[in-house]
Amino acid sequence: MTHILVINGSTRAASTNGLFIKAIVKLTGDRAHFTLYPSVADLPPFNPDLDMEPAAAEVANFRAMLASSDRVLICTPEYAMGVPGTLKNALDWTVSSADFRLKPVMLVTASLSGEKAHASLLETLKVIEAVVAPETSVLVQFARTKVNAEGLITDPETRNAIGNALDSFLGDPCASSNL
Ligand SMILES: Cc1cc2nc3c(=O)[nH]c(=O)nc-3n(C[C@H](O)[C@H](O)[C@H](O)COP(=O)(O)O)c2cc1C
Repeated sequence: MTHILVINGSTRAASTNGLFIKAIVKLTGDRAHFTLYPSVADLPPFNPDLDMEPAAAEVANFRAMLASSDRVLICTPEYAMGVPGTLKNALDWTVSSADFRLKPVMLVTASLSGEKAHASLLETLKVIEAVVAPETSVLVQFARTKVNAEGLITDPETRNAIGNALDSFLGDPCASSNL
């Protein structure tokens, strides 16, 4: 069974991205097993001086969760025309440890606009050598209007886009990846 670690770039309790995660889990059914990383806000601020062994407990836990997953799903909003600081901070902790190296990633940027965060995250994922196929990266604009509280994607176009990305992600994401 494929094991997918889920990272939500939003730390809000009532997160729209959380609802998209719920929707993706439902759409996947028994095709994979998901584990949600509790919160990117649990990680300390990245500091290269502290990036040494033994790592801080939460950093070690994050790295271990990444290491034990086959794939990673990232769902995130955009803040102030960029990647939420807490999510970027989490990714910064993985640079030296190379936890994302060759790891297939599905990226969903669910935001009001989201274009800049989406593009920026794709650059970051590339530099940390994650495998992101074009088919497994989806930008959902006006996201709040496209999913309901039950985790049902109410916009047919978005449901199709996420469904197709998921099918590709659960298949062979290396087929048309950035590698
Ligand atoms: C401080 C702040 C800045 C924001 N800046 C942007 C932005 O630059 N672009 C955008 O698309 N949405 C922006 N938003 C709106 C978020 O995309 C929206 O609140 C989204 O639903 C947050 O995701 P979440 O519901 O998963 O927390 C911003 C929201 C906040 C609170």
